[in-house]
Amino acid sequence: MNILVTGGAGYIGSHVCIELLEAGHQVIIVDNFSNSHKEVLNRVQLITKKSVICHNVDICQTVELEKVFKKYEIDSVIHLAGYKSVPESIQNPLKYYINNLVATIQLVKLMEKYKVHHFVFSSSATVYGIPEQCPIPETANLKTVNPYGTTKLVIENFLYDFAQSNAHFSIVLLRYFNPVGAHESGLIGEDPLSVPNNLMPYITQVATGKRNYLSIYGNDYPTIDGTGVRDFIHVVDLAKGHVKALDNISGKYGWQVFNLGTGEGYSVLQLVTTFERVTGITIPYKMVDRRAGDVAICYADTTKAEKQLNWVAERGLEDMCRDAWRWQQNNPNGYTTINSKDKM
Ligand SMILES: NC(=O)c1ccc[n+]([C@@H]2O[C@H](COP(=O)([O-])OP(=O)(O)OC[C@H]3O[C@@H](n4cnc5c(N)ncnc54)[C@H](O)[C@@H]3O)[C@@H](O)[C@H]2O)c1
Repeated sequence: MNILVTGGAGYIGSHVCIELLEAGHQVIIVDNFSNSHKEVLNRVQLITKKSVICHNVDICQTVELEKVFKKYEIDSVIHLAGYKSVPESIQNPLKYYINNLVATIQLVKLMEKYKVHHFVFSSSATVYGIPEQCPIPETANLKTVNPYGTTKLVIENFLYDFAQSNAHFSIVLLRYFNPVGAHESGLIGEDPLSVPNNLMPYITQVATGKRNYLSIYGNDYPTIDGTGVRDFIHVVDLAKGHVKALDNISGKYGWQVFNLGTGEGYSVLQLVTTFERVTGITIPYKMVDRRAGDVAICYADTTKAEKQLNWVAERGLEDMCRDAWRWQQNNPNGYTTINSKDKM
């Protein structure tokens, strides 16, 4: 099948593209590289030995995006493009509503016009807000606590309404928990363009000495060691979940939602100590105040994905740490340095 992958050059998108190519799909990436590097495309091709089509298009530019729909017979769309920083979304909600929400609506409009009826959307566990129960089932109440999360929730609601009104569409929402790690080749991984927002790239940058210490936000939560508990999921497992979602989408109509997590919660401190054990490197850290909007405990009930998608996360915390560290060691300055020195 021809799969249009928006944001396919990004951290999760690049891993999704590898799994799609390895499953025999043709991948057409649309990305404006606002948070990714073109070198990613070389790496994906190096790993899979398959070619990738990529268009440098901002999905907010409908005219440009339509050219891609005209050019290819697209069977399905996996929509990952968007902004993802919670603090930035609080400072600049307009930027997030336009790029995440308006762009998605325009994309779906083009899908309707070109009769592309299969849609997989990257949602997030942030739609659960402060969870009322753990593990969190897909049926839990939804209530967001920041503009980023709200854009995801509004898109979910829009897609629900759209699916109700359009009998030909099949829409799958994937609620990611905390993706970490990197491809085991060490060729692709998470490469934040500025100071990392996410925990794992921060840890690996402390491990290399690029940053002096890790700040852990809050050590007085009601958890095993006082630090927040999260459902860390290996990005390769997450990517494989997209292929399963696509397999499941064929011939089914309507709207479905799945949690993609491991179903297990580990504390921030447990992740740090696992990283130290796996790599032999001590991570200096400081306990600082809780961060507004952070929740104490958040992990998924993955029963639905197991039963209906036949998908389960297979990689553990040690794999996540080992692979993230391999990526960081092989690419100490991310994609850019290697791109300029050692073109593939
Ligand atoms: N990483 C996480 O922790 C996490 C958790 C839950 C959900 N998600 C969601 O998963 C998706 C992918 O996340 P990621 O971590 O890979 O982020 P990322 O920033 O690495 O990837 C997003 C990609 O989309 C591209 N992009 C952004 N706006 C675009 C636009 N207007 N037109 C074309 N391309 C555009 C960026 O250049 C980037 O390559 C996002 O929608 C994010 O909200 C991520």
